[in-house]
Amino acid sequence: MHTLLLQWLFPLLLITSFLSINVELSLSQYEQHRNCSEDIKCGGIRLSYPFWGENRANYCGPPGFEVECLENVTMINISSINYRILKTNPSAPSITVARQDYWQTVCPQTYENTNINFSLFDYTSGLTNLTFYYGCASINLPGLNSTSQTCDTNNDNVSYVTRSPPSDPVANGYCKNGVNVTVFRTAALTLEANPMTLQAAVDGGFELGLQINNVQCNSCVESGGTCGLNTTGGFSCFCLDQAYATVCNATAPGAQGMSVPSLVILL
Ligand SMILES: *[C@@H]1O[C@H](CO)[C@@H](O)[C@H](O)[C@H]1NC(C)=O
Ligand SMILES: *[C@@H]1O[C@H](CO)[C@@H](O)[C@H](O)[C@H]1NC(C)=O
Ligand SMILES: *[C@@H]1O[C@H](CO)[C@@H](O)[C@H](O)[C@H]1NC(C)=O
Ligand SMILES: *[C@@H]1O[C@H](CO)[C@@H](O)[C@H](O)[C@H]1NC(C)=O
Ligand SMILES: *[C@@H]1O[C@H](CO)[C@@H](O)[C@H](O)[C@H]1NC(C)=O
Ligand SMILES: *[C@@H]1O[C@H](CO)[C@@H](O)[C@H](O)[C@H]1NC(C)=O
Ligand SMILES: *[C@@H]1O[C@H](CO)[C@@H](O)[C@H](O)[C@H]1NC(C)=O
Ligand SMILES: *[C@@H]1O[C@H](CO)[C@@H](O)[C@H](O)[C@H]1NC(C)=O
Ligand SMILES: *[C@@H]1O[C@H](CO)[C@@H](O)[C@H](O)[C@H]1NC(C)=O
Ligand SMILES: *[C@@H]1O[C@H](CO)[C@@H](O)[C@H](O)[C@H]1NC(C)=O
Repeated sequence: MHTLLLQWLFPLLLITSFLSINVELSLSQYEQHRNCSEDIKCGGIRLSYPFWGENRANYCGPPGFEVECLENVTMINISSINYRILKTNPSAPSITVARQDYWQTVCPQTYENTNINFSLFDYTSGLTNLTFYYGCASINLPGLNSTSQTCDTNNDNVSYVTRSPPSDPVANGYCKNGVNVTVFRTAALTLEANPMTLQAAVDGGFELGLQINNVQCNSCVESGGTCGLNTTGGFSCFCLDQAYATVCNATAPGAQGMSVPSLVILL
């Protein structure tokens, strides 16, 4: 009776433990695959690799591409300035962003130039800087356009240029501060014809290319995988069975436990 029980119980325990190891392994691989296959959906914007944050785990993209969804607005922090993501173009790949501190205002709390991290992004063509000047003396500098606005910050009046002024008004001491805000050149041209479009030019933002290897990720996706990073930050293709360096490949030697059918045959 006892021997019979052991004869059956031992293999049964063996099967159960092997099965649970196998299930655990494939579950975590499956979770990585599944976690990075979900898009971030926020206020009509959908983002996938290289972006992560919200429902996408931190291994679904490089550190600089973290986004946050705040009241239906997708936000990204680039070189310590928050930007709203207005639009995405996954095939470029690129994003159109606008500065949050200049959103529906030309009076930010602090005066900081648009400053892109060029190891993560690059400027697309067709961009220019709109330069704001704050606290300028009443003397009209040629080419400097003043607005009727006054900012709470030091009671500063606001002027701007769409093209570089002949001499730097800040260096000259005519204005206290200057800020470069990158915009589309077409918006700057519209502004030159119509001063009423100042806020629209700023809120329209500008387009940034992403410094990522899109070919690498596309190959992974075509093979049924989802793109992400391994523990050392290198590219990884998460597949249903395991993570691969480039594409899903069922024949590569894997770190998997024995499959269920082979266990059954073993018994
Ligand atoms: C997948 O994402 C969920 C939710 O963010 C998280 O709880 C889970 O730990 C993630 N899975 C893995 C394998 O990282
Ligand atoms: C976000 O957008 C959804 C639909 O687009 C809407 O139902 C929801 O109320 C919005 N939430 C906020 C905080 O604006
Ligand atoms: C730019 O991005 C790289 C890569 O993520 C990062 O190491 C670096 O600290 C960033 N620089 C700034 C100024 O944020
Ligand atoms: C952006 O992120 C940096 C750290 O990476 C942080 O110091 C800074 O306060 C953030 N800026 C904003 C506007 O959230
Ligand atoms: C805009 O100004 C910033 C900061 O001064 C500079 O880094 C950038 O190259 C300028 N962009 C364009 C399109 O001129
Ligand atoms: C801007 O404000 C300064 C005081 O801060 C004032 O002297 C100057 O006349 C103002 N300039 C314009 C163009 O209103
Ligand atoms: C800006 O100033 C220049 C030179 O004074 C002027 O020709 C142009 O019409 C002004 N533009 C706007 C938008 O006020
Ligand atoms: C704006 O950027 C240009 C270069 O694109 C630079 O020459 C100028 O000094 C910058 N202005 C400010 C206010 O930083
Ligand atoms: C991470 O990925 C990189 C690039 O694919 C590779 O060179 C490196 O060996 C991987 N590291 C680990 C721990 O898998
Ligand atoms: C797996 O990858 C190797 C090396 O990249 C390749 O030679 C082989 O054909 C691939 N097998 C499958 C099934 O894709």
